[in-house]
Amino acid sequence: MTAQGFIATKEHRRFVEFADAVCRQHGIGICFGQAGIGKTLSARRCANWHKAENLLEQWGPRDRFRLSDLCRTGPGTQRLLHPAVPTSPQQIHAELGHISTRVSICVDQHLEKIDKKTGPPGSIGMHVELLIIDESGRLSATALELLRDRYNRDNIALILIGMPGIKKWFGRYAQLYSRVGFAHEYRPLAQEELNFVLERRWHKLGQTLDPEDFTEAQAIAAVARITRGNFRLIDRLFTQVERATKINELSTITDDVIEAARSTLVIGIS
Ligand SMILES: Nc1ncnc2c1ncn2[C@@H]1O[C@H](COP(=O)(O)OP(=O)(O)O)[C@@H](O)[C@H]1O
Ligand SMILES: [Mg+2]
Repeated sequence: MTAQGFIATKEHRRFVEFADAVCRQHGIGICFGQAGIGKTLSARRCANWHKAENLLEQWGPRDRFRLSDLCRTGPGTQRLLHPAVPTSPQQIHAELGHISTRVSICVDQHLEKIDKKTGPPGSIGMHVELLIIDESGRLSATALELLRDRYNRDNIALILIGMPGIKKWFGRYAQLYSRVGFAHEYRPLAQEELNFVLERRWHKLGQTLDPEDFTEAQAIAAVARITRGNFRLIDRLFTQVERATKINELSTITDDVIEAARSTLVIGIS
């Protein structure tokens, strides 16, 4: 997904508001929703991760422009996104410590607290304000406990993202669950927004979409029925639509074209 391809949907804006609220309260929030609707992409944007990731992972020379880009939200508002990987809690702990330190060095350097010639001082300010854990349903009980502990000690805000089942799953951990102040449901695209997304898809195929046109309204209805507003399914469906329109040199995308594309998708769409 390129930065340009990102669509700032209503759900994305709701996610940003949710994250801001969790931050302000230094709270714990849970964000849940079905697979493929855009949770990860929203979180990446919200954490500025599409820009920060390379800088933090490659860890080479940091020019001023990139630093100010990364730190544009200023000190104390740094956000960190981490996918929950099924490794040991110790490893998660180590990785979080490692990446938090790097974020903080960048912020400090941006603030020119670090003298570039002498390198970082012994103690650096910790600037991570919000920790977002993606796919947190994969965390073990011990790893959850570790995160809760970190949340308590460092006074950071914490967001746990996962599938709808995570609410129930976390409910089993009273220590953590009793501290959850926000539960946010991430929803699929609603009709109006689906139209907006589809207009761009049509455009990509060199066509214009007119929802008032009967044939096109039917095609939109077919996409809505098949994908139920799920971004990933729309992507997959349109890869097939693109193929079909090219091979058959079609100038109009009808519901038949959409149905034919669906039938070529082997798995995932029923
Ligand atoms: N806001 C968006 N703009 C453009 N494409 C998106 C957006 N959100 C999701 N997508 C598309 O849908 C796919 C799945 O999104 P993702 O964030 O991984 O879903 P989830 O984390 O909910 O499973 C992405 O790879 C991307 O192609
Ligand atoms: Mg995801």
